[in-house]
Amino acid sequence: MVGYAFMGAAHSQAWRTVNRAFDLPLRVRMTAICGRDQANVAAAADRLGWESAMTDWRELVARDDIDVIDVCTPGDSHAEITLAALAAGKHVLCEKPLANTVEEASAMVTAAAFARGSGIRSLCGFNYRRVPAVALMRELIAAGRLGAIRHVRAAYLQDWIVDPEFPLVWRLQKDRAGSGALGDIGAHIVDLTQYVTGQRITGVSALTETFVRERPLPSVSSGLAAAASETDGGLATGRVTVDDAALFTARLDGGAVATYEATRFATGRKNALRVEVNGAHGSLAFDLERLNELEFYDATRPGPEQGFTRILVTEPEHPYVAAWWPPGHILGYEHSFTHQMRDFVQAIADDTDPAPSFEDALQVQRVLDAVLRSAGSDSAWTGVDPVLTTA
Ligand SMILES: NC(=O)c1ccc[n+]([C@@H]2O[C@H](COP(=O)([O-])OP(=O)(O)OC[C@H]3O[C@@H](n4cnc5c(N)ncnc54)[C@H](O)[C@@H]3O)[C@@H](O)[C@H]2O)c1
Repeated sequence: MVGYAFMGAAHSQAWRTVNRAFDLPLRVRMTAICGRDQANVAAAADRLGWESAMTDWRELVARDDIDVIDVCTPGDSHAEITLAALAAGKHVLCEKPLANTVEEASAMVTAAAFARGSGIRSLCGFNYRRVPAVALMRELIAAGRLGAIRHVRAAYLQDWIVDPEFPLVWRLQKDRAGSGALGDIGAHIVDLTQYVTGQRITGVSALTETFVRERPLPSVSSGLAAAASETDGGLATGRVTVDDAALFTARLDGGAVATYEATRFATGRKNALRVEVNGAHGSLAFDLERLNELEFYDATRPGPEQGFTRILVTEPEHPYVAAWWPPGHILGYEHSFTHQMRDFVQAIADDTDPAPSFEDALQVQRVLDAVLRSAGSDSAWTGVDPVLTTA
């Protein structure tokens, strides 16, 4: 694994747990974790359960006792690490968004397609697909329970940068993160809605906004000092180069129309990922803050019985749930990552391609790119080129 902070910890927890929860044909060994600072990465290895710690990811991918590389770094290093890992014959799990640009993501798709010929598997970390209620949503839609899909309504709302004094971390710099709320959390709702509906976005009309354009630097040692300007108060600040919020309307290839909102300025909303799908025969609604539940309106029921039903998605016949606890003993955020590792390991063992593939993630990248281009041209309608998928 490369990177050991937020996703590093979430993925480590999943790697530690996956063989205990699921009966898998392969056993995971957490061989090595890599960061840039020896003392910090050694402490992380100890805390997160890795056998060894390294400071050069090039040495990591060259090790012949390693089969899988898990990329948990910011977007500016996804392509470089992934390309090297695939070339070295390693299976790759790369966090989302796949890359910072369509060009990088395309190169990763080419490399993954080539590696596939030698049985090398790759997966992009859109983990919310593996929340049982989301997987159930997809199953119900695929089974035709909603009929023709008319509307998709998606929002991913956070508030962690509302304070203008919050520092200029990497997520607020275009060269490190690619985009702001759009790529960080908007990417999730793009993938999730396309996954549950089985429809792809064909075009968008978008706007973005950056509410706070200048922020304090986290510290001079962060390498940002060169980009700093001096405010009247003499504090070192730097320019925010990404969107704080992105909103767009979209058309999907199955005939649905959709709205998307991604923001880190929704005061009071901590991690509110909400998706509602309305079809000719019913509706489904999901809210990550109540992730064990799925709301289902079945318009085929007799009139007096109609109404939204709260399905508690904790029955053994629900996706992934049989591996865990008795009905009603709820799951959490971290289980989505364990499920992701389960599907990845199983695919490697079965010699099949896991989803979402890099092709799927490239398509999301093209949507993000179209959103930024549309926002940059007065919300002009902007088409999204289709991506041929293997899955
Ligand atoms: N799936 C999700 O729900 C989810 C949630 C958060 C973040 N992410 C994605 O995960 C990735 C990492 O985000 P995070 O929140 O963990 O960030 P983070 O800032 O918490 O951690 C990044 C880690 O990468 C390390 N790092 C940075 N550059 C490196 C390099 N060149 N070599 C080695 N290590 C390097 C840092 O030291 C740190 O340990 C991003 O792509 C982000 O979009 C996904």
